[in-house]
Amino acid sequence: MTRMLTFSAVAVLLLAACSWAHSETEELSVSELLERANSNLVRSADEPILIEGDIAIDSESERNADPCTSRGCTWGKYTDGKVYIPYYINNHFSSREKSIITRGLESFSSFSCIRFRPSRSSDRDWLSIESQSGCWSYVGRRGGKQVVSLARQGCLYHGTVQHELLHALGFNHEQTRNDRDNHIRVLLQNVQSGMEHNFRKIATLNQGTSYDYNSVMQYHKYAFSKNNQPTMLPIPNPNVSFGNAKEMSRTDIARLNTLYKC
Ligand SMILES: *[C@@H]1O[C@H](CO)[C@@H](O)[C@H](O)[C@H]1NC(C)=O
Ligand SMILES: [Zn+2]
Repeated sequence: MTRMLTFSAVAVLLLAACSWAHSETEELSVSELLERANSNLVRSADEPILIEGDIAIDSESERNADPCTSRGCTWGKYTDGKVYIPYYINNHFSSREKSIITRGLESFSSFSCIRFRPSRSSDRDWLSIESQSGCWSYVGRRGGKQVVSLARQGCLYHGTVQHELLHALGFNHEQTRNDRDNHIRVLLQNVQSGMEHNFRKIATLNQGTSYDYNSVMQYHKYAFSKNNQPTMLPIPNPNVSFGNAKEMSRTDIARLNTLYKC
């Protein structure tokens, strides 16, 4: 009897701890979730170089250009006006994890002409969704198989799935927009040494949209901070909060629909 009681007490405690951890995670923005999932990773030699926290590149020469504006990177449109993007979800995910990923993939059907669909052997270009080290994606269509990594630990949230898929669709981070200096002041003095490149400016696909503090692609105020001081402050009012998105914003959706002429 005592043993039973002890067992149930432990079970109750475990349940309480799990739901606490769960609700704490629910409070985090996509930017915070990505930072948490991608910190202190031990990455293997066959994984790509990451820049800006979660963008994969294959060589150092890719560092300074946005592949989408330098050579084009969009996915093709079918005669019915839809953009079909083949994907394969690796079998190492559980069915619960697969359903989070699928919900993220399917969300695009409700607000755009993007249709992610299961891959077939005849597909030339496709996304391989895998749990590697951390959450990351290449920017735009690369040709052939391209990995989108959603680590089982830390990346399986609706907003992080959408964020990585937006990279694969051709979008970069909001704070790298070439007009960002009108909206955000970058405080390099607070940035961890060696992380300054994360605040580069590049020619991104803005599609005529205005700068969006609420974009799911906007990092938070303290991203890559070395001293708990902000690394970015909004202009003109530094008290305005930003980088809190938990899913795609209206502007993220508008930009996507413009790029793909949905
Ligand atoms: C920002 O917040 C600080 C502290 O609450 C306040 O003193 C300051 O006036 C605010 N600045 C603006 C522009 O609202
Ligand atoms: Zn990203």
